[in-house]
Amino acid sequence: MPSSRELAADLRVSRTTTLLALEQLVAEGYLAARAGSGTFVAHELPDDLPRSSRALPSKATRHPPLSKRGKALAAGRPPSERLAGPPRPFRIGVPAVDLFPVRTWSQLVARRLRSASPQQLDYGETAGALELRRAIAAHVRAARGTECDPEQVLVVSGARRAIDLLCQLLLDPGDGAWMEEPGYPGARNALVAAGARIHPVGVDDEGLDVAAGASVAPRARLVYVTPSHQFPLGVPMSLPRRLALLQWASRAGAWVIEDDYDAEFRHGARPVPCLHGLDGDGRVLYVGSFSKTLFPALRLGFVIAPRDLRDALVAVRRASELHPPRLDQAVLADFIHEGHYERHLRRMRRVYRERLEALQQAARRHCAGALKLRPALTGLHAVADLEEADARQVFAAAARHGVEVMPLAAYGFGHARVPHALVLGFGAVRADAMDAGMERLAAAIDDARRPGPRRRNRASVGV
Ligand SMILES: Cc1ncc(COP(=O)(O)O)c(C=O)c1O
Repeated sequence: MPSSRELAADLRVSRTTTLLALEQLVAEGYLAARAGSGTFVAHELPDDLPRSSRALPSKATRHPPLSKRGKALAAGRPPSERLAGPPRPFRIGVPAVDLFPVRTWSQLVARRLRSASPQQLDYGETAGALELRRAIAAHVRAARGTECDPEQVLVVSGARRAIDLLCQLLLDPGDGAWMEEPGYPGARNALVAAGARIHPVGVDDEGLDVAAGASVAPRARLVYVTPSHQFPLGVPMSLPRRLALLQWASRAGAWVIEDDYDAEFRHGARPVPCLHGLDGDGRVLYVGSFSKTLFPALRLGFVIAPRDLRDALVAVRRASELHPPRLDQAVLADFIHEGHYERHLRRMRRVYRERLEALQQAARRHCAGALKLRPALTGLHAVADLEEADARQVFAAAARHGVEVMPLAAYGFGHARVPHALVLGFGAVRADAMDAGMERLAAAIDDARRPGPRRRNRASVGV
């Protein structure tokens, strides 16, 4: 390269400008400076580097194989199968995202950003922002009937992350764990990732069958359970069962993870105290999520842990991540403190009751004799038994008709016979869209009942 002085004269710019330009080109790898002999064009230009790696055909990769645990997780079924596009009848796991107060939320975001100090752009507390932990503890005390203080709360990126962290903290590879059958694939994956030996335990009208679990795996170290609204069957766990579970766990020296993912929405049913509120030993770890009460993309949830576990839990989290984004935590704390959360919950309870009623009416109107809804007392989905149709075939036919349903068997682990039933989400379906959705589902059930060549299932796989 010419010297910086020559370049400055040639280009009629200042020498500082040419010096800065040369420095930048050296930093980016286009030029190489050799002390005493000058500046040269680099032998290998940076633009060539990515191209050469991109050109590597994928067949030729020679990386080592995955771990056994990696393979087991990669082979797991996705938790749900979705058609492309926005929520449609009867997508499960999604709340009324159409009614979320986006305007209020964006005002709170803007206010927080305008007032952000340099300190607030730094790392925050590993356990989560104190103001949010205070708001969560106050809400859980009032709404779920259990005692806890902000020191016991760990803010996490959703319930799934919570269960994963707890499994890391509490289980050694090979430890036994009870898992509801059918049950939540997210929890199952966390148990697989921790190397646990999973013991599927059946669920009946009263929830997890504690006696069956005690006879199948009496020495299990951990139980994962969804007592408020068993996922996916929807039954609340009865009080005697809750007490039996705690008594067994106490005798066996086992931990209990209570996933209270959509306890806020009860449709006329009387609330039963959460397990955490009944536990006198500090063996219940309570997991909550904002995915159903607010919106899933927020990715915020929390754990309530016994006080003596708190430091260890924070240390386990610190080993792999710090805290969820500070801005989101601050906005959520404002949303709760300023009463928007309570208001939104009150409104949503009414909306979900209406949507459930619309689902029940539409099922009676369009699917009588083909589909029978089980009573839904809480939550945002209902289970419907199919009369004389194969649930997998209905699933495939429903996708062709543009509706989403999940076969109940998708949540089983293959150990128990699961009836031909569908899981139908109603949280994200407007009441006035329920009839049209149910009409399409009736047509899909008709298709599935009709003998004929099997058609390809074109449902795409989502999250
Ligand atoms: C049983 C259960 N627990 C928890 C969650 C929420 O998980 P997250 O907070 O990670 O979105 C879901 C979501 O569908 C669920 O079905």
